[in-house]
Amino acid sequence: MPYSIAIDGPAGAGKSTIAKAVAKSLGYYYVDTGALYRGLAFGLLQKGVPFVNEKAVEEEIKNIDVELLYEDGVQKVLSNGVDCSAYIRTSEIGEGASVISQYASVREKLLDLQRNVARQHSCVMDGRDIGSVVLPHANKKFFLTASCEVRAKRRTLEFQEKGESADYETILDEVKKRDERDMNRAVAPLKQVEDAILIDSSNLSIDEVVDCILSYCVGSEA
Ligand code: DC
Repeated sequence: MPYSIAIDGPAGAGKSTIAKAVAKSLGYYYVDTGALYRGLAFGLLQKGVPFVNEKAVEEEIKNIDVELLYEDGVQKVLSNGVDCSAYIRTSEIGEGASVISQYASVREKLLDLQRNVARQHSCVMDGRDIGSVVLPHANKKFFLTASCEVRAKRRTLEFQEKGESADYETILDEVKKRDERDMNRAVAPLKQVEDAILIDSSNLSIDEVVDCILSYCVGSEA
């Protein structure tokens, strides 16, 4: 039986960096589920469908095929056969993914895709509803968070390191808005499930968080 580790938490808590490192250390697949929502948002943007128009989104996603591909352990997202991995990290796509992730039709479309990976491979899967909806029987569940200010600071640095302009106050505002939307949507909202281990990474380094997660998993994994 494949072993699964669920890591949920708000935007900018460091989930992807940490989940990737944990997966590498255990030799598991790293599944970034946010990339699927972003891949769908990418497809919708290309077709000019407004993210806020639920009906139009519901119709159009029937024509958008999103796939996950693994090459040398690296996840790629294909939207209608096109590798869009390099184009989905913008604020516009992040916002769009957050908006469309509120729609039941979108969540339903992506559910089996996520479960299928976990059925076939031991994995570390990160997202918002992994422990609650996608893999309620995951072997280990973590809820990774950090204060809004720390998360906004990290995002600002990330953009700056890529040579992109970034304004801390604007990003802080985006972080708060995204939290609000992700935590209060009707379908599969972001929340810490009872059996998830809470880790607040505000004052921890990446290595400290990775070690903490590994200490819970090593010895109990398949
Ligand atoms: O983790 P991320 O920033 O790449 O995710 C983008 C958006 O996708 C996020 O704001 C909410 C949505 N999302 C979700 O609803 N459920 C998931 N499992 C992963 C992401």
